[in-house]
Amino acid sequence: MKQSLASKWLAGIAALALSTQVALAVPATALTVGDGLVEPLGYPGPIPTFSWKLPEGVKRQRACQIEVREVEKILWDSGWIESDQSTLFPYGGAPLRSRQRVQWRVRFRDENDQDHGWSSFAQLEVGLLSADDWKARWIRPAEAPDPSRESVGYLRRTFLVPKTVARARLYATARGLFDFQLNGVRVCRDHFANGLTSYHKRLDTLTYDVTAQLTVGQNTLEGLLGAGWYGGRYPFRTKELGPFGKDTGLLVQLEITYADGSSDIIASDSQWEGTYTGPIVSSSIYDGEDFDARRQPANWRPVAASADLGTAALTPKPFAPVRQLRILAPQKITEPQPGRYVFDVGQNMVGWARLQIPVAKDQTVTIRFAEMLKDDGMLYTENYRTAKSTDTYTAARTGEITWEPCFTFHGFRYVELSGLPAGVQPQKEWVTGVVLQSDLPRTGTFVSSHAKLNQLQSNIAWGWLGNSLDIPTDCPQRDERAGWTGDAQAFCATAMFNTEAHAFWKSWLGSMRDDQDADGVIPEIIPIADQKRRERSPGWMDAATIIPWDVYVRTGDVSLLADNFEMMEKLVGWYRGQSVGGLLPNIKGFGDWLQPYPRGRDTPEDRQGGRRGDTPLPLLGAAFYARSAQILADSARVLGRAADAERYGEEAAAVRAAFTREYFDGDGRLRHTPETQTAYVLAIAFDLIPSSMKARAGENLVRLVNEAGGHLGTGFLGTPFLAPVLDQTGHADVAAALLFQDSYPSWFYSIDQGATTMWERWNSYTRDKGFGDANMNSFNHYAYGAIGQWMYERVAGLAPDPGHPGYKHFFVRPLIVRQLDSARADLETPYGKASSAWKKQGGKVALEVVVPPNTTATIEFPDGRPALTVEAGVHHFDSSF
Ligand code: BGC
Repeated sequence: MKQSLASKWLAGIAALALSTQVALAVPATALTVGDGLVEPLGYPGPIPTFSWKLPEGVKRQRACQIEVREVEKILWDSGWIESDQSTLFPYGGAPLRSRQRVQWRVRFRDENDQDHGWSSFAQLEVGLLSADDWKARWIRPAEAPDPSRESVGYLRRTFLVPKTVARARLYATARGLFDFQLNGVRVCRDHFANGLTSYHKRLDTLTYDVTAQLTVGQNTLEGLLGAGWYGGRYPFRTKELGPFGKDTGLLVQLEITYADGSSDIIASDSQWEGTYTGPIVSSSIYDGEDFDARRQPANWRPVAASADLGTAALTPKPFAPVRQLRILAPQKITEPQPGRYVFDVGQNMVGWARLQIPVAKDQTVTIRFAEMLKDDGMLYTENYRTAKSTDTYTAARTGEITWEPCFTFHGFRYVELSGLPAGVQPQKEWVTGVVLQSDLPRTGTFVSSHAKLNQLQSNIAWGWLGNSLDIPTDCPQRDERAGWTGDAQAFCATAMFNTEAHAFWKSWLGSMRDDQDADGVIPEIIPIADQKRRERSPGWMDAATIIPWDVYVRTGDVSLLADNFEMMEKLVGWYRGQSVGGLLPNIKGFGDWLQPYPRGRDTPEDRQGGRRGDTPLPLLGAAFYARSAQILADSARVLGRAADAERYGEEAAAVRAAFTREYFDGDGRLRHTPETQTAYVLAIAFDLIPSSMKARAGENLVRLVNEAGGHLGTGFLGTPFLAPVLDQTGHADVAAALLFQDSYPSWFYSIDQGATTMWERWNSYTRDKGFGDANMNSFNHYAYGAIGQWMYERVAGLAPDPGHPGYKHFFVRPLIVRQLDSARADLETPYGKASSAWKKQGGKVALEVVVPPNTTATIEFPDGRPALTVEAGVHHFDSSF
């Protein structure tokens, strides 16, 4: 129909009116619940918290009102509350129940008291909160699996749907790993979804909406049961399968509500059938997957079912599962040996290869992986140690297939195919690198005028991408891939800049609480399966204090401190029990792990030829004892526990005093101990020595850096603080020189050797000497990427304020370094986008600062003029430097 000119004109006026109105009073957006969950199905608790963002142009929230409804019924109306809180606002209604589905919305008044109107509604559905919600039984195929491999179980149940379905939810978890198909279609896009938790204590459950997948009539629900971390290999238990138990199984409950209001439950029980005979012959996280397309599922038998749900809590997964986040296409194909084709995806990554290849009947294609190539172009796999990391596909017929594995993942840049039909010409489309990671929203970016520094940021981001597959891991490729606590505490703050990982860390801290020993000791990897292994290492155990604090500072979530307070107290109590006058003469540990140029002490503590560095363990012990006690005191203060704050504050101060007396002379120089960079770094970073001594200590540190030819000499414990400490003691130029250093050991050195991720050692590979000791040579180890924090917070200049956590107030303090013309950090904070960007321009620096609504920022100018605190908006300044 043709619109008349007049009606077009009228419509134009209406649109104009609408847009002016919208510009004046845009409602809140980006509604999330809990720790950043967007419209979750399976919310993990009865009392959600609510967060929203205010539109651009608003300075402050003066008041807000939240309304929660169930259909039309209002469950909670907060009424107008005079408050500027727009994140993690607690629900004040009656606790929500399992399965309850509610809608919520929010409105707010801005700094001028203008009401911006209601936001749109956001949904939230609670998962199954209690064991009583489960009618299902644990099931697995009745036959015994082959004990020599990680078999995959096939389970199925056919059922009738008699009438129209209004709503259907599939609740599931596994002792092992699950995957489901309903009527031949996968029910989700998640992988390894129930994840890696301390399985004896907690199993995460998932909720899926399968309403659209059910049909009136016959339906078939099929489940796959992989051994996974639960029933397969696990670090330190590599010879024995099933570290957490031999009783792998699926627990699934399909709850159907019909249009007429009646309901049905199809739960895992003795009506299911199962078999271990199917195309996935075995699938192992560490060894890879063997797929034989000729082996269609057979020998179906009634399953073994157990009504005993076990003692582990069944709780909805509190953060996003692993998903396929991006795809990498091969850039190059080589054939180093006849019939072996090597595809280079151009980036060290974590996930698997999706194949689209020609195959010949009964032939097996072997898919191998590697992070690096040897000189002859063949795969370098020695550093995988005992992890076979090999997939195979055996063809049922000649033709083209598309295939990807299910319950394994690999750390690789190169994919080698062999066993292809004779005479085929490999094509780039044959292999796709599928990147798998916990689906954490990307939040931060860092860019500068320096290509190598940008490559470093890329390597840091990829290091995190590859080592955040459900838990924070040391590495993703060899026979470890474990939640090493020391690495995690070193990198957590940097990780929090790159992604919204709030709930991810919180969940892992839950496993840490589950795994803490009664005496306070935190095992070195979390979760741990080997009850005998305890290194009791300073800097590793302190993940229990440092990570809650770092995440709290960046999110403002006080529950991180409340939930983990007792764990911190127990850890500090353990240190106290070890201490003699505040010092820790008998402590053991991993030391300043992988410090370059170690003297290689061959003591009982250091049987590994100097991996533990030269900083003595007692010194590290006292340093981390003081640090953990101080975090405990600070946490007590935030939680309003004044007496605890005082008590632990005094304890921390006493340890610091003992540290100073023992290890420093009056002139800020180390004594009674080898002089190491790390000893100075920690003394300054953790405020172990009086402020008056710091300048001299800083000079001594600079002397050691100079003696090392302008190189860092720190390992995992010292490196994260090295640049910040130099900067803080007035040696920003030395810190910058270390960052831009390109000879060994340094960040740029690895980049010059071809690194596309962070490496375990600066010289894991060198162009002139080749590969380092394969025994410990990961090309994807995030720990040294902890320099990222200084790059964002100081080089670009965007730093959180612990006093106003969650970026409610933050600092902009850019460091204008000789080596750069510009630097920029952008971060999606809980309040919206914040930025600090600077650019040298005609002898001056142009500074751009973006302050999100409802926050303020204090700008510390490069020219030293008085700091300025600004409100939301985009601000431009010129400064000299
Ligand atoms: C891991 C680490 C870990 C270290 C502790 C290594 O095998 O890969 O990164 O922190 O052991 O000793």
